Amino acid sequence: MDAMENLMSRNSVPPKLLSEPAPENEVLQEILNTAVRAPDHGAIQPWRFHIVRGEARARLAEIFVEALLKRDPDAPEAAITKERNRTKFAPIVIVACTEVTTDHPNVPPVEQIVSTGAAVQNIMNAAHSKGYGSFLSTGKNAQDPYVKQAFNLTDKDEIVGFVYLGTPKPGLSAKPRPDVAEFCTEWTGAAAAAE
Ligand SMILES: Cc1cc2nc3c(=O)[nH]c(=O)nc-3n(C[C@H](O)[C@H](O)[C@H](O)COP(=O)(O)O)c2cc1C
Repeated sequence: MDAMENLMSRNSVPPKLLSEPAPENEVLQEILNTAVRAPDHGAIQPWRFHIVRGEARARLAEIFVEALLKRDPDAPEAAITKERNRTKFAPIVIVACTEVTTDHPNVPPVEQIVSTGAAVQNIMNAAHSKGYGSFLSTGKNAQDPYVKQAFNLTDKDEIVGFVYLGTPKPGLSAKPRPDVAEFCTEWTGAAAAAE
């Protein structure tokens, strides 16, 4: 598949439609290598990727449960079960983080977070090119200080997302995409002053 075809054919694969086998170490490494090709203003290298697999997935799920119970000690059983099952399906979860430099003279935190987002997109496209599926999710866990602490992050840092990675099960239908023309205009000069 050529690069354009790869970009144009990727769809997110929800975690429940991901299963074993995971990419082998060598292929995973190739996939991860694309992350550090993300644009990185100031060469700050703000990205941190935690690879969670095997038994560690269950431990991450327990952290999600503990975080939920800290946020809401009366959380219903269904919500607890949902957290406990979150990491059960995809064989690998990559926790993509930004270790934010707050005092850089030219590169504000948002640019460092965008760089991590670009890295995540590279990972997802690379995974697709190797025949694997992936899904990016955040939810309350990404903002939760207890979850962040588990990845050595402080308040200023960000979990940009959890990338679920594995082999797609059959059954995913292609998603209709909008016409990009709806989001593009030809800009030819300054906007007219408001009347
Ligand atoms: C930063 C970010 C966070 C997201 N978090 C969630 C999430 O927590 N739960 C969810 O169902 N989808 C989430 N999504 C959306 C999915 O990753 C995915 O983009 C969506 O299901 C559409 O699929 P597509 O990538 O094939 O267009 C998130 C997307 C982004 C960019």
